[in-house]
Amino acid sequence: MDVLIIGSGGREYSIGYALNKDENVDKIYFAPGNGATDELGENVNIKDYNELAKFAKEKGIDLTVVGPEAPLVDGVVDIFKEHGLTIFGPSKAAAQLEGSKVFMKNCLKKYGVPTARYIETDSLEEAAEFINSLSEPIVVKADGLCAGKGVIIAQSKQEALDAVKGMLSGESFGEAGSKVVVEEYLDGYELSIFAVCDGKDYVVLPAAQDHKRLLDGDQGPNTGGMGAYVPTPLVNDELYKKVEDRIIKPTLKGLEEDGMPYTGVLFIGIMVVNGEPYVLEYNVRFGDPECEELMVLFESSVADMLYKAATGNLKDAEVKFKDNTYAVGVVLASKNYPYSSSEPAEIIVDEIVHEDLKNNSYIAYAGVSKDEDGKLLATGGRVLVCVGLGSSIRKARDRAYMLAGQVHFAGKKCRMDIAYQALKD
Ligand code: AMP
Ligand code: GLY
Repeated sequence: MDVLIIGSGGREYSIGYALNKDENVDKIYFAPGNGATDELGENVNIKDYNELAKFAKEKGIDLTVVGPEAPLVDGVVDIFKEHGLTIFGPSKAAAQLEGSKVFMKNCLKKYGVPTARYIETDSLEEAAEFINSLSEPIVVKADGLCAGKGVIIAQSKQEALDAVKGMLSGESFGEAGSKVVVEEYLDGYELSIFAVCDGKDYVVLPAAQDHKRLLDGDQGPNTGGMGAYVPTPLVNDELYKKVEDRIIKPTLKGLEEDGMPYTGVLFIGIMVVNGEPYVLEYNVRFGDPECEELMVLFESSVADMLYKAATGNLKDAEVKFKDNTYAVGVVLASKNYPYSSSEPAEIIVDEIVHEDLKNNSYIAYAGVSKDEDGKLLATGGRVLVCVGLGSSIRKARDRAYMLAGQVHFAGKKCRMDIAYQALKD
């Protein structure tokens, strides 16, 4: 089949990387792709979704996979379906799970899914009353999409109140902050769990753990994610069962009853508190950088799974993962990430002569572009992800860092402790 991948990051690169090796896939297009995806397929520069759908029809594309949340929230799936195309991702209505935190929290409440106690409001007085009833720290979230920046963990009631004020006035996040969610702080460890859904059935993928903070030891500001590993030993069968019974099943049932059956990947951000899972947030797409590790763990065809999910036939898909294999991904970011953009810098990758490393690692390119001479430049915040595979997390991690040492660009930085929670003893 021919596949179109919408997006331009490391997540989309890694989906393309898996599909490029997939015997079910002939040709891959990326819209718009980045400076490295053109080595896996063809980059297409069409921004308008109707025009892109026309292109997909003309080219006879069999499956479109949507990487990022913005096109989903904008309704790209509905548009492609109107054109009679097969596309993997949720409808505009269901994508509100990520597009609006108020919508998401209200769904969780309605469907009885465990989550932090909260209120949603556009009134400062109401927010202040609730803030006074909580103990610190207190979490304040802007309703709309804020590129991962709309969550404030306030250490004092005053800080929480100031955050609410900033959001409601439009100063902090514009329209996205016109409503806020204030909620209690959950103290535990975070997991990313992905369920591939076809509107009726679902398949749960091995759980991942991301590292959101910029610096080692989970210090510094929140980022889009500085590295991840899969599967994490922090999940056992009992916890998977709780997540399915208390979270995935009621959510899918509720969305279906509310006329928004969920197709695509449901990304469940979970906080585990004393062995009990709580939903922090839903996202309506694969995590980035979690996807970069997941994509190299499939034994079965990724294209087949995505196609069957998109066409309501997931029950016929055989989804298998490589036995006894772990993947660790280390993000190499540019100098000023996540504060501001950095000067473009040339990326040099040493020739990798070590057979073991060659066979058990890869680079997922994200914030990169090519100059007129075809040189690869670091032009984004998160530039690339070095992914190592291995029969233990330690081996996979060692390979990821060995690879990271062979990649150079001015200002390169990374966390040195990815997967530390799994390697404590
Ligand atoms: P979100 O975009 O809602 O996932 O929030 C971003 C990050 O803020 C999460 O990955 C958590 O690390 C943190 N966070 C969000 N909500 C809470 C909460 N209720 N308690 C503790 N940490 C939270
Ligand atoms: N890695 C977290 C995210 O994709 O939102």
